[in-house]
Amino acid sequence: MSTSPENPEHALLAWAKDRYPVGKFAEWAKHKTVPIGPGSFWYYFGGITLFLFLIQVGTGILLMFYYKGSSDTAFESVRFISAKVPFGWLIRSVHAWSANLMILSAFIHMFSVFFLRAYRKPRELTWVSGIALLGILFGFGFSGYLLPWNELAFFATKVGTNIIGVIPYVGDPIMYVLRGGEEVTGATLPRFFALHVALFPALLTVLVGGHLFFIQVQGMHEPEGWKAHPEQRKTMPFFPHFFMRELLLWLIVLNILAVLAVFFPAELGIEADAFAPAPAGIKPEWYFLATFEFLKYMPAHVGPMEGEELGLLVISLGFIGWCLVPWIDRGRSRLVTAIVMVAGVAILVFLSVMTYLGHVA
Ligand code: HEM
Repeated sequence: MSTSPENPEHALLAWAKDRYPVGKFAEWAKHKTVPIGPGSFWYYFGGITLFLFLIQVGTGILLMFYYKGSSDTAFESVRFISAKVPFGWLIRSVHAWSANLMILSAFIHMFSVFFLRAYRKPRELTWVSGIALLGILFGFGFSGYLLPWNELAFFATKVGTNIIGVIPYVGDPIMYVLRGGEEVTGATLPRFFALHVALFPALLTVLVGGHLFFIQVQGMHEPEGWKAHPEQRKTMPFFPHFFMRELLLWLIVLNILAVLAVFFPAELGIEADAFAPAPAGIKPEWYFLATFEFLKYMPAHVGPMEGEELGLLVISLGFIGWCLVPWIDRGRSRLVTAIVMVAGVAILVFLSVMTYLGHVA
């Protein structure tokens, strides 16, 4: 290969090859393929979630240039970003909308890998790391909501942390640490800010790294029928075919995001006042609505337990069951698979109905 200055691209490649195993990477990229089957469309949602996460990192860093994370200054700094900083309102709106789309996309991704049964051996840890990722996305949403220090966020945080406090044994200390005391006060905001910009990004980066590493090592899940009928096997090269399609989808998502951010910009409301009465109709973000609504339907007491406590126990057991799905359905019994799939549909319907009821309530 020529390293002449007339061919700077080749010169750069030769420079890199002299120092790093570039050839091995190129070889790996050339042979990476993606299975093409009836469910292939859903394979794009993991990448879309990743793309939205990258947008969150970019816009989040820009917001931090002006945001001031203390209860005396937070609301004013967000007003300044929205009103005075050039394109500040747009960056803030993109950050808010992208957070919502990212959680929606992670939900679609989770249910699609569930119904494709991509959680089965050897992908148990990909599944569990995915659930942990979704948990961190919830953490991002919950902590980020308080940061503008407006009235709605303040009271929603009170309600949200109250619910955490109901969890038997561990709830109270967690609530205390999150709030920085018995109540939501100015001491709560720096804690949420630290979680939002330091702890959660670090955890998410490590977990996304692990999640993607597992996928690279094990390859993508292939439709079950291919084992018995290898002649049906169809794949597509990852570079450039799948990658280009993924990029096209990212461009479409970017356009949707731009339209939402421009036509429905993030609102600010009025500044939080701890001594003001709670406004009527306080609701959490849509992704917490199902839990919120479910707990509302619980009676005050069930036997020796408080209704909310029992509700949280049911949700916790459901969550543990969801994490254990790869070990429950190993693909050895059709009956078990059918039960797990029906349970998945029931959970999806339950979440949708509860979210809808919470929305219209
Ligand atoms: C920040 C959140 C997440 C990101 C960025 C992410 C990213 C990805 C990417 C890029 C892929 C490969 C392409 C694909 O199959 O779509 C993937 C695959 C996978 N993800 Fe996720 N994911 C996230 C959350 C989740 C969640 C919540 C679950 C489920 C609980 C999950 C479980 C899986 C599984 C089992 C696979 C393997 C699919 C296969 O082999 O076909 N992920 N993820």
